[in-house]
Order: sequence, then structure tokens, then C-alpha cells
Amino acid sequence: MNVFDLDTPALMIDLDRVEHNISEMAQTTKVAGVRLRPHTKTHKMPEIAKLQVDAGASGITCAKVGEAEVMVAAGFDDILIAYPIYGAAKLARLQKLREKARIIVSLDSVEVAQGLGRLGVTSGHPLEIYVEVDTGHHRIGRAPGMPTVNLVTQLAEIDGITIIGLLTHAGHAYGADTLAERDVVVDREIDDLTMTKQLCAEAGVPFDEISVGSTPSARSESLRHGVTEVRPGTYVFNDTTMIRLGVATEATCAAHILATVVSRPTPERFVIDAGTKCFTSDGVGRPGWIQVADREDLTMQFTTEEHGVGTIDLDRGGTLAIGDKLELIPSHICPVINLFDSAYATRNGKVVEELAVAGRGKVR
Ligand SMILES: Cc1ncc(COP(=O)(O)O)c(C=O)c1O
Repeated sequence: MNVFDLDTPALMIDLDRVEHNISEMAQTTKVAGVRLRPHTKTHKMPEIAKLQVDAGASGITCAKVGEAEVMVAAGFDDILIAYPIYGAAKLARLQKLREKARIIVSLDSVEVAQGLGRLGVTSGHPLEIYVEVDTGHHRIGRAPGMPTVNLVTQLAEIDGITIIGLLTHAGHAYGADTLAERDVVVDREIDDLTMTKQLCAEAGVPFDEISVGSTPSARSESLRHGVTEVRPGTYVFNDTTMIRLGVATEATCAAHILATVVSRPTPERFVIDAGTKCFTSDGVGRPGWIQVADREDLTMQFTTEEHGVGTIDLDRGGTLAIGDKLELIPSHICPVINLFDSAYATRNGKVVEELAVAGRGKVR
């Protein structure tokens, strides 16, 4: 089937571009000598994770136990759940996963570590953990230096866990306006982590690993001394945020929403059948937050739940009629994927397969 014959709105994944993105990141990290553990929260599809592992990823990252359950059921056996896992219900599910796969967990508290430690003791199989450090994103993690060292020395007293390293997510790299600014963020991040690792060793808790990674920072981080693993996720599909940050182009954006023009209320205005329920509200208000692929004459203006409203620059001479189909690049692809039951995999304008978004909605 031709892609333009699909009913809309539809999520489309260009497999040639996906393969290109996967191979570029795999090659970059291989040359740099660091392990690649892609975050699968972006695609949530075992088929795409398999392409990443086949291209050389040493394992995968998930955000939630539910996502890891999907991936373990599909045969993946080396998974980092980069999220503090707390509470009896989740620990019971985690233990089931550990019977089939290596599962590492990241955390930043004694409370979470104690729960995991009980699992490690009762199973006779210590749980590997990363200690998360806040290198500037101000989400999870203690500050670098002594606040993290103090936590690490407390964690080292807990039976049933093995501290394998430090982990951070440089989400604040998204705020960098230029690649030079991003590199300042990365310099600071890696200095903070290597210094903290050294202090932990001096305090009697040595470990080997430093796990970092976001798509804007991963390539730069790979080249830094001390980094052992990177975890980019968005790179597999990219989005307009990655274009804005200078790490993607329209040609490397592999996921599109196919939408139909359903109204032309004025000569300048058009409306498509995809709104916030397809694009989410991420990035709203930023010029170009949703981009129409290959149509520089079209500018999206705003979305409501089921409508996407844009304008056409009539001076450029382009035309647009009701029934025309457009391919749109979202602002933040990860939550967009979570809104679709399935994605149409395409090659050269033809639909080759329908892939279930098996990990969608797995928020527990
Ligand atoms: C802990 C963690 N690691 C890695 C990533 C991947 O970052 P990106 O989506 O920028 O590739 C994320 C993204 O949210 C994350 O939260």
C-alpha cells in the first residue's frame, strides 16, 4: 500500500531512516569505545529495540517495570530500568523479570535501595544498581560531590545490592541554544561525575561505571574520558526539538504523523485532522514546534484536541486542497508514540508492516 492511501491520522515510521539513525549512533559509540544502551521509551517497540541490539547496543534502557516486561517477553535479557522502583507490587514483578533477564535499577535514596536489597537477599542474587546524580537537570539525584558520596556510603551498607556506578540524565542539555553551549553542559556533567566517582572510591566504595545520555548530548559524551555507557533514546526517530538543537535534520526525522486537510476556511488557513491528541502539547508556542515535511510554505499555528490549524504562505505559490495529505514532524516524539496503538513501517513511500506499540501506556 502507498503511504498516502493510509487512513489518518496515522503514525508512520520510515525504516530506512530508522536504520540510518541506529547505525550512526552505534558507529559513533563504537568508535568512541563506550557501550550503547538506548532508551526504548522513545519507540516502545521490541522490533525497533532488536534493530538497535543487532547494530551493537549492549542492552536496552526502559523507564518503567511495565516497559521492561514487554521487552523481556520479547526476549531482551539485559535491561536497565532507569527509574526508582518502590513498593511491594512492583518489586514482585521485578523479581519475576530477574528470573529471565539481567535487570539493573537506578535510584537516589536509601528507601528504594532497601526494597531492592530485600529482593537481592531473598533471591540470593544481589541487585545491580546505578546511583543517580543530579548534574543540573534538577529532577532525580543528589548533587555531585559529597551529597552523592554520603548517599553512596549509606547504600554500601545495605545487603542485597551491588553499586555498579553513577548515572545521570543531562535533560538540561535541551536548554542549550548552540552546540558550544551544549558542550559546556557536557564538560560540567562529566567533570562532576568523574570527581564524584573518585571521591566514592576514596571513601571506600569503588565502582567502574558512568552511565550518561540524552540525544543532544550523547555523541559529545561518548568522547569524554570516564564515560562507560550512553543511553540516548530520541535519536532513533528525532523530532523538531532535535532539529532546533542541531543534532537532526528533516532528513533524519524518521517518525511522521500522516494527516488529512479537512478544512480550508480562508485562503490562508488550513485545518488537519490531527491535534493535541496526536501531537501532545509539548513544545506548543515555539515557532516550528510541529513541522510539515517538505512544505516550507506551510506553518502550523496551533492545535486543539482534534484539529491542527496552520497557514499557507500564498506568495510562494503552493496549493493545498481538502483531502490533501501532509506528513508532520512532532516536537517531542516520545510521548507522541505513546498515543498510538500501532505504527506503519514504510520504505520508499510504501507501507511494509504494521508494528504494535507494545510498550504504550505501561506507566506502572
Ligand atoms: C534517564 C534517561 N536516560 C536517557 C534518556 C534519553 O534521552 P533522549 O530522549 O534525549 O534521547 C532519558 C529521556 O528522558 C532519560 O530520562
